[in-house]
Amino acid sequence: MTKSLRIVVLVSGRGSNLQALIDAQLVGKIRSQIVAVISNITDAPALERARRVKIPALVVASKGKNNDIFFNELQNEIKKYNPDLIVLAGFMKILAPSLVKAYANRIINIHPSLLPSFCGLHAQQQAIDAGVKITGCTVHFVDEGCDTGPIIMQRAIDIKSNDSQTSLSDRLLAIEHQVLVAAIKLIEDDKLVLQGKKTLLSGEPT
Ligand code: GRF
Repeated sequence: MTKSLRIVVLVSGRGSNLQALIDAQLVGKIRSQIVAVISNITDAPALERARRVKIPALVVASKGKNNDIFFNELQNEIKKYNPDLIVLAGFMKILAPSLVKAYANRIINIHPSLLPSFCGLHAQQQAIDAGVKITGCTVHFVDEGCDTGPIIMQRAIDIKSNDSQTSLSDRLLAIEHQVLVAAIKLIEDDKLVLQGKKTLLSGEPT
């Protein structure tokens, strides 16, 4: 059964993944609705992308704030929108355990590597530096670790010998946008089953 989820998107910057979700919503690729976009950075370009299509876009600034206070404020804002799903789309902070607990298995993140390789910052550069020939992107549920939650979907691409962080990031972004939308489609279609650290597609043999 397809559900229409209320989605809150957390962002910190450019917002190209947010844009992919907005576009998917506008053309009916996903039925879910982005009910709010929240940024921890005051002038994140992602905010403008939301405002252009009349999605509530708000700032809960993290700068200069103690983590407990910031996450308390953030959680209070999120709560007002009563989300079924929280999407981290370039949100550059590790979530407080209390937030992860409050929305257990209802928070997903997009990361630009094939996890569990290259978690954390500069994942594309980490892959280049390690000399791997293949990298990719991962959508995963968020747990209390950094990029460690159950993996929902991954897609791989080749690394070219002359790739820079920029060229690789650009090619990765294009597939990130597709994979993020596809992962949300799986969730709204109720096709994902969580089994401990793993996710399965419903009907898949265990
Ligand atoms: C993406 O590469 C995403 O995987 C990572 O941060 C970047 C955000 O890009 N978590 P954008 O703000 O969605 O354009």
